[in-house]
Amino acid sequence: MILEVENIHTYYGLSHILFDVSLNVNSGEIVLLLGRNGAGKSTTMRSIMGLTPPRQGSIRFKGETITGKKPYLIARRGIGYVPDNRRVFADLTVGENLEISERKTKNNARWNKKKVYEFFPALKEIDSRKAGFLSGGEQQMLAIARALMTNPEFLLLDEPTEGLAPLIVKALEDQILKLRDAGISILLAEQNVKSALKLGDRGYIIDDGKIVYHGDINDLKKNEDIRKKYLMV
Ligand SMILES: Nc1ncnc2c1ncn2[C@@H]1O[C@H](COP(=O)(O)OP(=O)(O)O)[C@@H](O)[C@H]1O
Ligand SMILES: [Mg+2]
Repeated sequence: MILEVENIHTYYGLSHILFDVSLNVNSGEIVLLLGRNGAGKSTTMRSIMGLTPPRQGSIRFKGETITGKKPYLIARRGIGYVPDNRRVFADLTVGENLEISERKTKNNARWNKKKVYEFFPALKEIDSRKAGFLSGGEQQMLAIARALMTNPEFLLLDEPTEGLAPLIVKALEDQILKLRDAGISILLAEQNVKSALKLGDRGYIIDDGKIVYHGDINDLKKNEDIRKKYLMV
């Protein structure tokens, strides 16, 4: 198991947001974190990344406890984070956005600009364009590409397809599957179970900060009650 989240409780100030959340991701797996808007998906990712550390519970990455560690240390251990707002540097070019994210690892680094451009050929075409002028789909690709430049073994993808046109969504889903095939384990937040079905086998549903379902995504497809209760159909 690459990631183990055990009984975490997370707060924003006095607001108790996550209640006893547990989930895990096996090596080489895409696991879905499903739930409607405000359910706690992003807070779970922020908890794992150390941005909003849990006050109770524990998080282990590759068997080592990372609870309470600083975000940059967690990133250095091999977790890449692509937040929901696709924070790219608008005034930097695509190429510059990638270069400033590069992190050489001890074992000969898998990802560099050249490899990333092989993976996302569309980005190579716009290497010298300012990121502020990119389309939503291009920005999302760049956000993922930047995370790859840190050589992650595990990626947190927060609603990567949100607000994108159907054709772009399809292309992005194919890329996400290729990342998994390249050996990167993924926890992917998503509101739409239909889109989720194409990407993962296993998923959790979070609602009001609590895990309310865990299981096979195909079973979810058949389970209309749960879908209607907790998800956008
Ligand atoms: N910075 C914040 N301060 C206070 N409350 C927040 C903050 N961010 C999110 N929340 C609240 O936490 C809950 C979970 O939000 P979030 O994790 O963003 O849900 P999701 O990603 O599933 O849409 C919501 O009720 C939201 O209003
Ligand atoms: Mg969110």
